[in-house]
Amino acid sequence: MRAVITGVAGFIGSSLCERLLKEGWKVFGVDCFRDYYAPSLKRKNIEKCLENSDFVLSEQDISTSPLDFIKKGDYIFHLAAQPGVRKSWGQEFDHYIRDNIISTQRLLERVKNIKISKFIFASSSSIYGQSKSFPLKEDSLPMPFSPYGVTKLAGENLAMLYAGNFGVPTVSLRFFTVFGRRQRPDMAFHKAMKSMIFDKEFPLYGDGSQVRDFTHVGDIVEGILLAVEKGKNGKVYNLGSEREIALSEALRIIEKVSGKRIRRKKLEEARGDVKKTLASIDRAKNDLGYRPKKSMEEGIEEEWNWIKNIYNYNL
Ligand SMILES: NC(=O)c1ccc[n+]([C@@H]2O[C@H](COP(=O)([O-])OP(=O)(O)OC[C@H]3O[C@@H](n4cnc5c(N)ncnc54)[C@H](O)[C@@H]3O)[C@@H](O)[C@H]2O)c1
Repeated sequence: MRAVITGVAGFIGSSLCERLLKEGWKVFGVDCFRDYYAPSLKRKNIEKCLENSDFVLSEQDISTSPLDFIKKGDYIFHLAAQPGVRKSWGQEFDHYIRDNIISTQRLLERVKNIKISKFIFASSSSIYGQSKSFPLKEDSLPMPFSPYGVTKLAGENLAMLYAGNFGVPTVSLRFFTVFGRRQRPDMAFHKAMKSMIFDKEFPLYGDGSQVRDFTHVGDIVEGILLAVEKGKNGKVYNLGSEREIALSEALRIIEKVSGKRIRRKKLEEARGDVKKTLASIDRAKNDLGYRPKKSMEEGIEEEWNWIKNIYNYNL
C-alpha cells in the first residue's frame, strides 16, 4: 500500500512511518524541518527510515509548494502542523494559521478531485478546551482554550466539510497528550528528563495538579492504522488511553524510573493550558477495535532510555 505522510520527521510522523515500512508499505514522506525545535532531532527521527528503499523523503513546505506528491499515495496521513499550546499566542499565531489551517485546506483542495482511499487528519484533545464534564466525548461541544486548539479545530472542520461536499474520505483523530520515544522537546516529560540529565531546573507551570490522559505513541500509531481500515468517512475519533494522571504524579513516575530527582521550578499557570483532559474512547473501541495497551511506567522507561541516548548520557 502507498502512503503519503506529511510531518514525517516529527515525533508521531516518524513513528508512524517506521511502523508502515515494517508492514511493507511504500511511504512518501514530506517535511520542511521547521525549527520550532532542533531540526537535527527530526533528522535523527527518520535516520532508520532513510535506510529503507521503500521510503522517499521530500523536503518541502506544504503551505506553499505545489503539492504534486499527492498522487504518490492512496492513503494520506496529514500530521504536519505547528504544535504547542503555549507558543500559540501573539505574533506566533501566524505560524499556526499557516501550518495548521492553510496547509490543511491546500491539501484537501488537491485531493478533492482525485481518488484516494483515506485522508487521516491529526487533530488534538486541545479542541475540547476547559471542559467540566468528563470523559470527553466526540459529540460534546468543542470550545478550544488556546489559539493552537482553535487552529486544530479549524483543520478538523475543514476535513469534515470536504468529506461532506466532495466525498473526500477523511477521518480526524484527536490525539491526547502523546508520550514515548521521540517526544517533542517542548513537551513536559522530555523537558523533565532533559533537566535531570543537565542538572537544570524543570519549569513546572501551576502546581502540577493538571490532569492529562497521557497516551503512548505506539497506541496512537495503532489507532491510526485501525482508522485506515475501519474509520468511517467524515468522522472524528478520540485516541486517548482513558487514564487520568496528574502531571505531579507523572513526574514521580519519571523519578522512580530514572532513579533521579527532578528539580521543580514553580511558575504561574500557563495561559491556554487546561485543567484536565480525559478521553472517552468508546467510539474508537466500537468502530475501530482500538485498545490502548502501554502502561505509564513502560512508556516512560522507553522514553527515558531514548532521552539518555540522544543526549549521550551515560550512567
Ligand atoms: N504530540 C502530541 O501530544 C499531539 C497531541 C495532539 C495532536 N498532535 C498532532 O499530531 C501531529 C504531529 O505532532 P508531533 O508532536 O509529532 O509534532 P512535531 O512537531 O514533532 O511534527 C510535526 C512535523 O511537521 C513538520 N511541518 C510543520 N509544518 C510543515 C509544513 N508547512 N510543511 C511541511 N512540514 C511541516 C515539522 O517540521 C515537524 O517535523 C500534529 O498535527 C499535532 O498537532 C500531537
